[in-house]
Amino acid sequence: MAKSLIEINNLVKVYGQEVKNKVLHSISLEIEKGEFVAIVGPSGSGKSTFLNLLGALDQATEGEIWINNQLISDLDDLELAKFRNQNLGFVFQFHHLLPEFTAKENVMIPDWIEYGAPTVDKKERAQKLLELVGLSDVTDKLITKLSGGQKQRVALARALMNKSPILLADEPTGNLDTATTEKIYNLLRDINQQLGTTFIIVTHNQDIAAKTDRIIRLVDGQIESDKVIEK
Ligand SMILES: Nc1ncnc2c1ncn2[C@@H]1O[C@H](COP(=O)(O)OP(=O)(O)OP(=O)(O)O)[C@@H](O)[C@H]1O
Ligand SMILES: [Mg+2]
Repeated sequence: MAKSLIEINNLVKVYGQEVKNKVLHSISLEIEKGEFVAIVGPSGSGKSTFLNLLGALDQATEGEIWINNQLISDLDDLELAKFRNQNLGFVFQFHHLLPEFTAKENVMIPDWIEYGAPTVDKKERAQKLLELVGLSDVTDKLITKLSGGQKQRVALARALMNKSPILLADEPTGNLDTATTEKIYNLLRDINQQLGTTFIIVTHNQDIAAKTDRIIRLVDGQIESDKVIEK
């Protein structure tokens, strides 16, 4: 039985059948509830692969991932979908937004699927989240009319909609200007402090990484360093 919120034991990921490419080499670590963790490292070091495994969007070749005392490889597809809904929020590099819907509809859709047509409260919450990420002027625009950075912020608002205990984000501020990046970081930090949400974010932004609680650096699929940031 795992003790930490997230416990990873000897995680290995190999891509390819004939030509094998080992991109994660026996990663072990623990993350406690409420931690705000940055994953950093060069391009190709395995950060997104690691986050995909952690989010149960892909299967590990070897090793264990425990989240909330659940060994995720024990779950079948249906159980996994439910587990993800209850525990995990995602902001990924490819936003997976629905092009035929507006920004606000996209923020509400996962909740809609899970709980039925949105209540007034839910609509207000979606509106508020879009305002917080700086998108109050485009809430009713179709996704296809938004810029890359705007889409990214819609994806972030959508991930924050269902108050998941764990939020995984791959470069959530990747294409954004410094002021917006700072604003979004502050928003995530507020949520982290108010709701105790655990954040694990991949970032190339050193200023943002330096403001988190802990920086895990991956190099060639291995943990090169794992540092708690002194405040
Ligand atoms: N679906 C896949 N099939 C085969 N190889 C893959 C796949 N996804 C990633 N890789 C390989 O795994 C390695 C790690 O990739 P990954 O995307 O995890 O890196 P990253 O650290 O997220 O890089 P970046 O900072 O550029 O996003 C790379 O060598 C990549 O080519
Ligand atoms: Mg990546």
